[in-house]
Amino acid sequence: MADTVPQWETLGFDYIKTDKRYISVWENGSWDDGILTEDNLLHISEASTALHYGQQCFEGLKAYRGKDGKIRLFRADLNAQRMQLSCHRVLMPEVSEEKFIDACKQVVLANEKWVPPYGTGATLYLRPFVIGVGDNIGVKPAPKYIFSVFCVPVGPYFKGGLTPVNFSVTDMDRAAPHGTGQAKVGGNYAASMLPHKEAGDQGYADCIYLDPTTHTNIEEVGAANFFGITADNEFITPKSPSILASITKRSLMDLAEKKLGMTVIERDVPITGLDAFTEAGACGTAAVITPIGGIEYKGRLHVFYSESETGPVTRKLYDTLSGIQFGDVEGPDGWVTIVE
Ligand code: PLP
Ligand code: COI
Repeated sequence: MADTVPQWETLGFDYIKTDKRYISVWENGSWDDGILTEDNLLHISEASTALHYGQQCFEGLKAYRGKDGKIRLFRADLNAQRMQLSCHRVLMPEVSEEKFIDACKQVVLANEKWVPPYGTGATLYLRPFVIGVGDNIGVKPAPKYIFSVFCVPVGPYFKGGLTPVNFSVTDMDRAAPHGTGQAKVGGNYAASMLPHKEAGDQGYADCIYLDPTTHTNIEEVGAANFFGITADNEFITPKSPSILASITKRSLMDLAEKKLGMTVIERDVPITGLDAFTEAGACGTAAVITPIGGIEYKGRLHVFYSESETGPVTRKLYDTLSGIQFGDVEGPDGWVTIVE
């Protein structure tokens, strides 16, 4: 365990061992009450389904310290619901919304000193996960499961935060048309490592995935969703059954319509139709809102607003969303939970 807290302003998105994590075990049909532990190592069977058959899932959400010193969780109920969908998809026992939120709160309170101060731009990233464990060799559900939540203080996921970065389009897929794209399961991320590395080797922040059926429409931006802004004040974002339904994107759709008076449209976003957009961005818990400078496709870089400056609508969306998350701006009812 690191004894001293890090330099908040220079944090990236890297693992740091914090004080306590929550761990609960499912066996014989029910979850136990769970405990907090200092031990960050799991001792599990070599035959665990999580290791061989990818029977696992995870979530990502953040705790934000406000100007008032209070710590807030943002829409944790939606993370809990999405984890239930993921558990269902890979035949694991679901964790109730109440247990999920209680575990997150316990972890935040037990690691209070790791919640970055207001104004540093850093946050406490929570990583809940469920894994299949226990002795099992056939391709079938595990006899035992672990639900755990740990936390890490983080800065920007894409270097530069609210500075535009460029992405390149990959011809590999992260998920199949009727596969596990909607679920937050590790297999989708294993499939993303090679295209991510290839994009990085070529100087791009990450890769853009096209839809796995036709390879013509934008699907995801690495581990984030895509949105584009048009000159007609429209917020446009891909509609597809194989993307991860981003809680950040769902929140932006709401804010764009209700606070910024924009028209929100979910539709196919053809990779050959980027001229429609004056600005574009990637959005997610880790990515927050990362402006997309340009997208490389078939050897040509399509630049949106600018490769170095953030467009005005993207900035407004960012200010509104992060204002709510840090408690500076009043959000819709129920979006923010104070941890106490
Ligand atoms: N898409 C993928 C593949 C992701 O891993 C994430 C991160 O969770 C997102 C989108 C954004 O989702 P959210 O806004 O719920 O974090
Ligand atoms: C998140 O935004 O929470 C993610 O899961 C992205 C990535 C770190 C996998």
